[in-house]
Amino acid sequence: MKKVMFASALVFLAAWLTLSFQPDYGSGLISLAAAAGSDAKSVARGGLLYDKWWKVVPGATTPKGDHPLWSLQTTNTRKGDTTWRCKECHGWDYQGKDGAYGSGSHRTGFPGVWDAAQKKGVEQLAAILRGSANKKHDFSKVMRDQDIADLANFLNDGLVDMTKVIDYTTKKPIGADASRGKTLAGLCVACHGADGKKLNFGSEEKPEFLGTLANKNPQEFLHKVRMGHPGSDPPMPSAVVLGWDIKQAVDVLAHSQTLPKK
Ligand code: HEC
Ligand code: HEC
Repeated sequence: MKKVMFASALVFLAAWLTLSFQPDYGSGLISLAAAAGSDAKSVARGGLLYDKWWKVVPGATTPKGDHPLWSLQTTNTRKGDTTWRCKECHGWDYQGKDGAYGSGSHRTGFPGVWDAAQKKGVEQLAAILRGSANKKHDFSKVMRDQDIADLANFLNDGLVDMTKVIDYTTKKPIGADASRGKTLAGLCVACHGADGKKLNFGSEEKPEFLGTLANKNPQEFLHKVRMGHPGSDPPMPSAVVLGWDIKQAVDVLAHSQTLPKK
């Protein structure tokens, strides 16, 4: 782990040096970064909560039993803590039944969060997470105000329409530049290795690497690159916090699909 931290420190040092030696835009860059900084951090933290909130909420414990809304459906047969993840009911692409989870083993028939996020403001979105529309959708017992606020900021400001950047049939990114992605993915190498195989997210028998996930679930991949990975050690950087646009994240997806799957 020490080696990894040292290597990532080098990456950040290199990035910092690059920024510091840009002669003309010095102060402009810094104020831009600061402006994007605080908001983007809240959005990215909300994205991590959306993924697996109990890894992020201080002092939270893994939920026991099924979520109270889970019994409204029978098609997704998973049980226990997974049923409490926002993503399990609403999808990695935020589209629920209208997106990638509209079919397959994750299908619940539950709506996405995309429409609500377009139509409602942060206060209303936060209220929904406190059960304003449905008492069984009250997360205020397991989350603090700050967590709910970060989730509302994520919904309000952090969602992208993945149907515009991923072909759902072929699972390939649309209009991506894999070679630009390879350069950007220099950021990933310290932790994941140039071939994406340094960290195994699966098991010894059924390994899962960057290349595996990028090809199997591009929607999940994009969400993780943009927001980070909840509870990862060392913490994975968030593309949203780094100020990347969606095109850059999609380019990294395109490059990652060329990496070995096993
Ligand atoms: C067990 C499944 C389940 C989980 C987990 C869940 N939701 Fe929901 N959510 C629903 C259902 C079902 C609805 C439909 C409206 C209702 O009955 O509340 C909904 C509605 C919503 C809406 C409003 C959608 C609209 O169009 O009005 C938002 C926003 C939302 N959820 C966000 C979240 C977030 C953020 C989390 C994680 C903290 C989360 N949900 C966790 C099932 C779930
Ligand atoms: C500072 C180290 C670090 C950097 C840099 C980093 N990651 Fe990660 N990443 C991690 C860790 C740690 C995990 C969690 C691994 C686990 O749970 O087994 C992770 C998890 C992931 C996952 C989720 C895998 C899963 O299925 O749960 C994806 C996707 C991912 N990283 C992609 C990337 C990409 C793409 C980049 C570059 C843009 C990147 N990461 C940069 C450390 C890093």
